[in-house]
Amino acid sequence: MSFMKLPSDINRPVALLTGATGGIGVHLVQRLVSQGYHILAVNRAGDFQPRDHVTPVACDIAQNQQIEALTDGLRQAGVTLAALIHCAGVINPQRAGDYDIESASWQLRVNLEAPVFLTTLLLPLMPAAGHIIFINSMAALVPLAGSSIYTASKFGLRGYALALAQDVQPLGLRVSSVFPGAVDTPMLQKEIDSGGSPLNFVTAPSSPDEIACIVQRLLLRPKAEIFCPSSDGVLAQLMLIMPRVWRMILPVLMKKGLKGKKKYLARGKV
Ligand SMILES: NC(=O)c1ccc[n+]([C@@H]2O[C@H](COP(=O)([O-])OP(=O)(O)OC[C@H]3O[C@@H](n4cnc5c(N)ncnc54)[C@H](OP(=O)(O)O)[C@@H]3O)[C@@H](O)[C@H]2O)c1
Repeated sequence: MSFMKLPSDINRPVALLTGATGGIGVHLVQRLVSQGYHILAVNRAGDFQPRDHVTPVACDIAQNQQIEALTDGLRQAGVTLAALIHCAGVINPQRAGDYDIESASWQLRVNLEAPVFLTTLLLPLMPAAGHIIFINSMAALVPLAGSSIYTASKFGLRGYALALAQDVQPLGLRVSSVFPGAVDTPMLQKEIDSGGSPLNFVTAPSSPDEIACIVQRLLLRPKAEIFCPSSDGVLAQLMLIMPRVWRMILPVLMKKGLKGKKKYLARGKV
């Protein structure tokens, strides 16, 4: 396998993590290694900083052939996966009519198709009690104007995870989704630079380590869905039940979000 060199003496449960080099991913690697996992750290270049119990893996998950090469390689190496954590994600905020097909397709491939294809091909490598975790987004419940493709990908990913959980229950596999609101990472920076939705700032952004900590706890005590902050999760779920009420309170939330964004920018974080 040219894209990764697996050590021959892995004596820890193995977790495959996509998005390992991202704002949330680097904290996940740290926490999962300290939790006793060996991490297959996936990103495009496979250039993760060398450290114990981490194997960098080069894979552009927007390319189906690369996904197949990765999963074939793992199968041939006889790897079993205790955890599969989908954290890679991309966003390219643009109004609906402004998208070109390539940008829309890229977001759908990375955020939705890739986790679906990876899960499909890696399921045979997961023994009972294996855990599949999706880092989703509050955008799976709160439609974000200006990021309709991202929103669609995350709504789709939620549906997939809920259906998958039923399919794999007889195999003893667990499935969880984490729904963060805004998180202080390069992705949020990109959203701000491209005029992303003020709804990201209705509450203050979480730190990436808070999300990593949630995943660490989920691995010990599996739960189907977890929202961060939990108060936003309650509101978001109510909104989905009553979209009319959502439309009524949207102006209030937008006002609060704009205020929150100003406050965030004033902190000199960006
Ligand atoms: N930040 C937020 O405000 C926020 C809020 C809610 C949910 N989330 C979700 O949290 C997850 C992580 O976000 P983040 O903020 O940590 O993002 P980030 O800092 O921008 O990191 C994105 C990660 O995805 C990887 N990636 C992107 N395209 C890839 C591809 N084609 N193939 C392989 N890897 C690819 C990147 O790796 P390389 O670039 O090194 O290849 C990087 O490791 C995403 O699913 C995101 O939707 C984020």
